[in-house]
Amino acid sequence: IRRSEIASILKEPKIGDQVTVMGWVRAFRNNRFIALNDGSTAGNLQIVVDPDQLPEEVLKQISFHACVKATGQLVESQGAGQSVEVVAETLEILGGNNLEQYPLQPKRQTMEFLRDKAHFRMRTNTFSSVFRVRHAIAYAVHKYYNDRGYYYLHTPIITGSDAEGAGEMFQVTTLPIGDPPRTEDGSINWKEDFFGKATNLTVSGQLQGEIGALALGKIYTFGPTFRAENSNTTRHLSEFWMIEPEVAFNDIEDNMDLAQDFVQYLINYVLENYLEDLEFLDQRIQQAEKNLPQDKRRPMGLIEMLRFVVDNDFERITYTEAINVLRRSKPFKKGKFEFEPQWGSDLQAEHERFLVEKHFKKPVIVRDYPKAFKAFYMRLNDQQEGVPGETVAAMDVLFPFIGEVIGGSQREDRYDVLLRRIEEMDIPEEELWWYLELRKFGGAPHSGFGLGFERMVQFITGMTNIRDVIPFPRAPKTAEF
Ligand code: 4AD
Ligand code: MG
Repeated sequence: IRRSEIASILKEPKIGDQVTVMGWVRAFRNNRFIALNDGSTAGNLQIVVDPDQLPEEVLKQISFHACVKATGQLVESQGAGQSVEVVAETLEILGGNNLEQYPLQPKRQTMEFLRDKAHFRMRTNTFSSVFRVRHAIAYAVHKYYNDRGYYYLHTPIITGSDAEGAGEMFQVTTLPIGDPPRTEDGSINWKEDFFGKATNLTVSGQLQGEIGALALGKIYTFGPTFRAENSNTTRHLSEFWMIEPEVAFNDIEDNMDLAQDFVQYLINYVLENYLEDLEFLDQRIQQAEKNLPQDKRRPMGLIEMLRFVVDNDFERITYTEAINVLRRSKPFKKGKFEFEPQWGSDLQAEHERFLVEKHFKKPVIVRDYPKAFKAFYMRLNDQQEGVPGETVAAMDVLFPFIGEVIGGSQREDRYDVLLRRIEEMDIPEEELWWYLELRKFGGAPHSGFGLGFERMVQFITGMTNIRDVIPFPRAPKTAEF
């Protein structure tokens, strides 16, 4: 079907051209002006119809989110708000919309309401912008690594290992659920499963990524990961996408450099290529925050903040320094944190937000965490002065509003040290035999990290709930579509 995309019409309008466009009605004003959108861009194209020329039956069906086809001449627009418009000569209803029955209505609707209407929410201005930007970031991820000589490695989704050792896996099995075959001692006989062993959905592609790095040098993964943690927050999903670069010969410093350069690139790519969507999202936030008190509003606009993050180096501090800063600080009116910051306990969201939003006022990379609450694969640091306990070469990148967007580390590349750590943590050695062999035969220092894709999309779009930046969110008690 010959038609023009609204994106190309708005980008290079050829006044006087006869055009055919198809799309969904975003608004219909005064029985005359259609704001039409076909998904190709944030901007709507104005279609002017003459109500006296249209059959009553057609006119009646031009309504919110109906699908129409219009043909007419592209002219300069006299009205405010748009530079060009199409004067419709013919107008056809492709998909009528009975507004009385349609789940959405042409008024402001809450994100919570729209979340239950995942089959229609993408037609709203907000969600179509969010998912265009999501696409843009995904494309920029591949472009960034490809342009720098990294190889995209596909790691398995079904696996026998628990990369994070946190036990938050979704199990995968073909055994009958109610009555699985048992061994003599009464435990489930996994040998009779399709895979011949207990398997789960991956929580991270890192361990297999390390196999790639120790052969191809520089790899990255980009795939779905799964966590069966019962976290009902605005930052957690049960199914989310992760990007995990893994690089042979990189130490923790190189790893931090890569993390900063990478996320700045992603933000910059969207600023340069999807500014219209960002402008729309920016305005949307300002609208929403208009009636909030000053201290509840964002300190700067969305685009202003994105530029700030691109233009400034991230603060880099050790975990020990972070604890010292937090212990010296009086964060809120009450003068104390809910959880007292203490060397040896993990940083809480309130601590991370304080460091980023109140203290340094920029993204922060915290490194060298106590080994006690970090994963087995992180490289043990030499004892450092003024540090009360053992630490590992871990790094978390913390962002305003979001908190942790990246977690990573230099990996333990010393066979003996790794083996001791695995024993210490009671991880069954037979599960990691191949991981240990990578250290035994031709090992090398190497580092990597994982960027939570949805958290990045959240930061760039300014959406407050992570469920609104993935088309079909999976979270506790949420798997409709
Ligand atoms: O910090 P995490 O657990 O690190 C890893 O999985 C490492 N294996 C990564 C690596 O070194 N290759 O997760 C990495 C990132 C977090 O910083 C966060 O942004 C995101 O993944 N993330 C989640 N995003 C949404 N929902 C969840 N439930 C998430 N859990 C982690
Ligand atoms: Mg983490």
